[in-house]
Amino acid sequence: MLRYLTGGESHGRALVAILEGIPAGLSLSCRDIDGELRRRQVGYGRGERMKIEKDRTEILSGVRGGRTLGSPIVLMIKNLEWPRWQKIMAVEENVDHAALTQPRPGHADLAGVIKYDLEDIRDVLERASARETAVRVAVGAICKKFLREFGIDFYSRVIQIGKIRDKKEWQPDQADYSSIESSSLRCLDREKEKQMKELIDQTRTKGDTLGGIFEIYTTNLPIGLGGYTQWDVKLDAGLAKAIMSIQAIVGVEIGLGFASAERWGSRVQDEIFYDGEKARFFRKTNRAGGIEGGMSNGETLIMRAAMKPISSLARPLRSVDLITKKEVKAARQRADICAVPAAAVIGEAVVAFEIAREVREKFGGDSLAEARRNYQSYMDYLAKKQAR
Ligand SMILES: Cc1cc2nc3c(=O)[nH]c(=O)nc-3n(C[C@H](O)[C@H](O)[C@H](O)COP(=O)(O)O)c2cc1C
Repeated sequence: MLRYLTGGESHGRALVAILEGIPAGLSLSCRDIDGELRRRQVGYGRGERMKIEKDRTEILSGVRGGRTLGSPIVLMIKNLEWPRWQKIMAVEENVDHAALTQPRPGHADLAGVIKYDLEDIRDVLERASARETAVRVAVGAICKKFLREFGIDFYSRVIQIGKIRDKKEWQPDQADYSSIESSSLRCLDREKEKQMKELIDQTRTKGDTLGGIFEIYTTNLPIGLGGYTQWDVKLDAGLAKAIMSIQAIVGVEIGLGFASAERWGSRVQDEIFYDGEKARFFRKTNRAGGIEGGMSNGETLIMRAAMKPISSLARPLRSVDLITKKEVKAARQRADICAVPAAAVIGEAVVAFEIAREVREKFGGDSLAEARRNYQSYMDYLAKKQAR
């Protein structure tokens, strides 16, 4: 079984993760992970912190001589700001700082202090913060590396910021992916990107924030990951949960998603054909987005997620002080204006974990070689099953 846990506070000493279930024999270095961390940190509209934090991973266990051992992989990303925060975030008793008592709308602040019976909102926001996603991206990077061994790849792009939508169709393709990767908004259409940047600039001037929509694609999935036999084995359900677990994500679609609700059935389902030469079933469309009946159907997995605008505003919203119960302006924290490109990279990571978990579940193997043999045997079976 593949599983992970993360720990760490936004301004604490470090973020950590324990990832268990990656087989032995996978080539792995910190470089494989740090490249993904950099992708998460770029993006037009990010705040000052991204300029300060240059995240780097340290692998504390589970890897030796550049190869995984099959034992738990422990990861650490040090917070470079720790020296400035070590007094406020000290583990030891520390009465030397003022508590934050003005909850920010749209954050865990108010429900968190009430639920855990806390006095200082910092006790909540430090863990609820999206800073935690840095180490989830690190976990996802290892899962991606593992899945590349089976030809499975991940892509993402931003299709909307505020009301500006990039309507360009795109098939995941390495050739023009470099254009998306080099765009500071992960946008394919450069004209739309320009408009989005202008919108972000105007929004910054107004002291407001923006959300948007991103798309994630997973290619080369075999038929049959997930299942239909029980609610909790359905691939779409696990993926939706993983994406919804990202801070500020408010909606998930697979394939046509919500748009399918207003179409005729004949314009929603993907008809089935048979290619005699290739001896396999195929579809001419992929409106389902690669999942039918809770299982991968061999087509590209296409998911879309909506991110709400960043909750902390430069021009803070109204709130109520926890102690005086009087109206106040919400506490101001250093904040992004728009973080949709970063959320897309985080989306890739959480999807990669879910897919890696399904692959481990279906093909097992204590070593990478054993997992590959099992996978190949299933691929041979798939070919035989589809032959005339
Ligand atoms: C990549 C990323 C960066 C974020 N940056 C900020 C930020 O700078 N300020 C902020 O108030 N919220 C930010 N958020 C959103 C909050 O973390 C999130 O809205 C909050 O934790 C409440 O969680 P919820 O929106 O899932 O309910 C960010 C989210 C993501 C995914």
